[in-house]
Amino acid sequence: MVVPSTKTSNPPVCRLRQYVLLLACFLWTSSCLALWGLSGGIQIRPFQPPRPKPVPRNNNSSSTISAHDMGISEEKWDRLQKALYWPGPDQEITQLNQSTSPVHSTFSIVGLKESYKVGEHISVTITARDHNKNLKRYGGDFFKAKLFNSELKASVYGEVLDHRNGTYSVALLLPWEGQAQVYVRLEHSSEVVQILKKYRESSFPRSHYNGYFEGPGPDKTRISEVVECNLKWGADGSWSKGDCCCEYKDIKTGTVWQCERPKKLSCNKLVHHSSAGLENPLNPFEMQIFTKTLTNVAITGDTQIINVLPNTTGIGTMERCRSGMMTPVVPAGFYLKDVWKSFVCNTQQFSSAQSGNCLKNKIVYLMGDSTIRQWFENLEIKVPDIKRMDLHTQHFLGPLMAVELKNNIIVHWRAHSVPLRFPKVPITDLHYISNDIDEITGGPHAVVAYTLFAHLDFHPLTFYVHEVAKIRQSVVALLSRAPETTVIIKSGNTAGIKDIFQSDWYAMQQNTVMQEMFQDIDGVIYFDVWQMTSCHYLLEDLHPGPVIIANEVDMLLSYICPA
Ligand SMILES: *[C@@H]1O[C@H](CO)[C@@H](O)[C@H](O)[C@H]1NC(C)=O
Ligand SMILES: *[C@@H]1O[C@H](CO)[C@@H](O)[C@H](O)[C@H]1NC(C)=O
Ligand SMILES: *[C@@H]1O[C@H](CO)[C@@H](O)[C@H](O)[C@H]1NC(C)=O
Ligand SMILES: *[C@@H]1O[C@H](CO)[C@@H](O)[C@H](O)[C@H]1NC(C)=O
Ligand SMILES: *[C@@H]1O[C@H](CO)[C@@H](O)[C@H](O)[C@H]1NC(C)=O
Repeated sequence: MVVPSTKTSNPPVCRLRQYVLLLACFLWTSSCLALWGLSGGIQIRPFQPPRPKPVPRNNNSSSTISAHDMGISEEKWDRLQKALYWPGPDQEITQLNQSTSPVHSTFSIVGLKESYKVGEHISVTITARDHNKNLKRYGGDFFKAKLFNSELKASVYGEVLDHRNGTYSVALLLPWEGQAQVYVRLEHSSEVVQILKKYRESSFPRSHYNGYFEGPGPDKTRISEVVECNLKWGADGSWSKGDCCCEYKDIKTGTVWQCERPKKLSCNKLVHHSSAGLENPLNPFEMQIFTKTLTNVAITGDTQIINVLPNTTGIGTMERCRSGMMTPVVPAGFYLKDVWKSFVCNTQQFSSAQSGNCLKNKIVYLMGDSTIRQWFENLEIKVPDIKRMDLHTQHFLGPLMAVELKNNIIVHWRAHSVPLRFPKVPITDLHYISNDIDEITGGPHAVVAYTLFAHLDFHPLTFYVHEVAKIRQSVVALLSRAPETTVIIKSGNTAGIKDIFQSDWYAMQQNTVMQEMFQDIDGVIYFDVWQMTSCHYLLEDLHPGPVIIANEVDMLLSYICPA
């Protein structure tokens, strides 16, 4: 429930004393001067309504957010910060030619042999150079590496290790028999990552939102007003301009959404929400180094064919899929003939009929964004005789519900709450994931799966931590009251988006937060979808292609019905 509250008390509280003649109070940056007469005397000038706070556009990190604000302990925040640490330049960068160049950076295979056996690794060294061909002295470049074979539709993800001296190494597993080739991309230079980091933590509103107020007007008319809204986060988190503000504080999560005060209607008349424009904060120099031509570019190197021979030892048998396997596994699996073979547990492929049997007597709650709606869409096609109910909502916005009567299957999908970049949608349809989890009884028939990433790219990571902390609390409570509930976290996927608004670097850091925060909770399952999209041959897309989604859903079913 989002409860509207009118902002009544503003930070400086000006107390009226009997003999106060002059009272100067400083409201935010602008001062207001109020003059008062003696008690019972004439009020010379009425107290001015609070003036709006100017839009804060500083580029500094919001270091004012404490671990307490995020709802986690100091120790947890320290651990998280270590996990999130990302190296960067050791000096101020003022020229493009100091940044990493995808043209001059190269990779090589260490000690390339004539042939290998399945299960062996190859080691790849990446050497980063700037636009003047000088070796970089510091780390922080965001490279992506994989091994692939187009004919076999095979690929595997490789984790890049940063030596913080301009060199990087990747250990790539050779999981299939046949040929393989290495592919390395520079997603962002170290310098661009610093820009991403700076604006993620700044209070510059890169993403704008609208609030639609509707209500009765004079003579049975309806009036409507559209104002700007945004997230209020942190000490200087008030973004608003204009007549400030209607505040909507979600009681349970503590999240505060702000809208400019509409002129005619009251704060409780907020009915719809939508995304509005994006605002680019980059200065000319930042634009110069953060261009599409320098982003997500393949670098040159040893692209020789690697020959991989069979290995009689075999890769071994996988254990049954179950919860509690949170440790990051690299690689988590690989593609062969477009089928994802997990190294985490024994995943299977489910035929249409098998998926119907697997989901018999299940209620599946899918929560989050459009990337988990893709699971809903896949199940709608895959499960025989499943039908979508008409909930009088738009497909893209949801909520959605599909049922299959014979096997008693129910599948729900619902978008997460604000901040959300969706077209105009009723605000009552947007729920915080944690609040919805609180309302699920759970049990052996319940499957709860959620994802949270892309829409949070526009806001500080500390806010993401706060949201995840709330979800964690709700998941802990759910597993305590109903330990047999299946709880699945879908990680963020790669999207190959190349701008200041959304970046895979943001998603990667969010995934790190999600993993770290749930590390100690045994009853949850973490799906590393990141690796599945990062290494696939399809062009990266925020909405992964059907072949990837089909593999994700097979993995989902493998956990619901382990073999
Ligand atoms: C923030 O950065 C922009 C561009 O990078 C610059 O124009 C502006 O002066 C900076 N603002 C502050 C408060 O530092
Ligand atoms: C903001 O950034 C400027 C320039 O980078 C720096 O001088 C200043 O100390 C920073 N302020 C805070 C509050 O971090
Ligand atoms: C880098 O580029 C700037 C201008 O783009 C140029 O003035 C400078 O000489 C270059 N530096 C080096 C070391 O090439
Ligand atoms: C065969 O595979 C195993 C396990 O996957 C691996 O450890 C081993 O190095 C491989 N054997 C050879 C000779 O490559
Ligand atoms: C960078 O660090 C790695 C790991 O410590 C080391 O092996 C390598 O020689 C170093 N490279 C350079 C160019 O200093």
